[in-house]
Amino acid sequence: MGKLEGKVCVITGGAGSIGLASAELFLREGAKVLLVDLREADLARALAALDSPNAASFAADVTLGEEVRGYIEAALTRWGKIDVLFSNAGNSGVFKPVTEVPEEVFDSVIAVHVRGAFLACKYGLPAMNDGGSVIITSSIVGVKGEAGGSAYITAKHAQVGLMRCVAKEAAPRRIRVNTIHPGPVANDFQRDVEAGLSDLIGTDATRLLDSLIPLGRHASPGEIARSALYLASDDSSFTTGSTLMVDGGLSG
Ligand SMILES: NC(=O)c1ccc[n+]([C@@H]2O[C@H](COP(=O)([O-])OP(=O)(O)OC[C@H]3O[C@@H](n4cnc5c(N)ncnc54)[C@H](O)[C@@H]3O)[C@@H](O)[C@H]2O)c1
Repeated sequence: MGKLEGKVCVITGGAGSIGLASAELFLREGAKVLLVDLREADLARALAALDSPNAASFAADVTLGEEVRGYIEAALTRWGKIDVLFSNAGNSGVFKPVTEVPEEVFDSVIAVHVRGAFLACKYGLPAMNDGGSVIITSSIVGVKGEAGGSAYITAKHAQVGLMRCVAKEAAPRRIRVNTIHPGPVANDFQRDVEAGLSDLIGTDATRLLDSLIPLGRHASPGEIARSALYLASDDSSFTTGSTLMVDGGLSG
């Protein structure tokens, strides 16, 4: 029997790298999965890759309350309940000194990560089963700062504050709320970030990071998915309010 047998999981950023890897794994573990993402075309590609009757999709912008209510309602309409809410959508913004970050870029990065996770909790919790799990994808930079990351890193720290409050509010219903903190992942999102970082620091950021990570490499999306599975499943039944680092030792 799978670790998520019969559980209904909603994954935002579900057409992206970590979201899709998590959906694949959750399905293999017996879950029903609703992928939420911005664009229908990306969702269609992701659904085709999953090729499962237990997967569905809903196009929504996680920063808009009406659309968040829409994806929650879509999961309830299709499967009648929500056990796992994985708030994982993200954008990177720009990596520049704070004096050069456009206001609208700062606002957009805060909106997707912070407002998106807030709205997921606000509208998702009332619809969730007691004993469920909320997972918010933060980052290694949710617990440490770096020059050039003021928008993204502020957003990733703020998600931890939100998680800590909601973990206490949801505990009477045995709903666990945790953040997961990937280090650098070998995917397009991180390649874009590292291209910007390389320009900023004048050296190859990818090689530099690999030299700093004790395990000596980037993570695969599947490795992040396996840690998300731990938080989604009853294996983490006594884990709430925690920051799960999945960073090859980089933050240690
Ligand atoms: N890739 C890494 O190295 C890394 C490291 C630490 C944390 N993270 C975090 O992991 C999460 C997933 O990132 P990923 O690496 O899979 O990147 P990704 O770009 O492949 O996936 C992110 C997804 O979020 C979606 N998205 C963006 N804005 C949205 C919005 N307003 N509404 C709905 N969907 C939206 C995108 O369309 C995309 O499909 C993000 O929160 C990211 O910050 C990534």
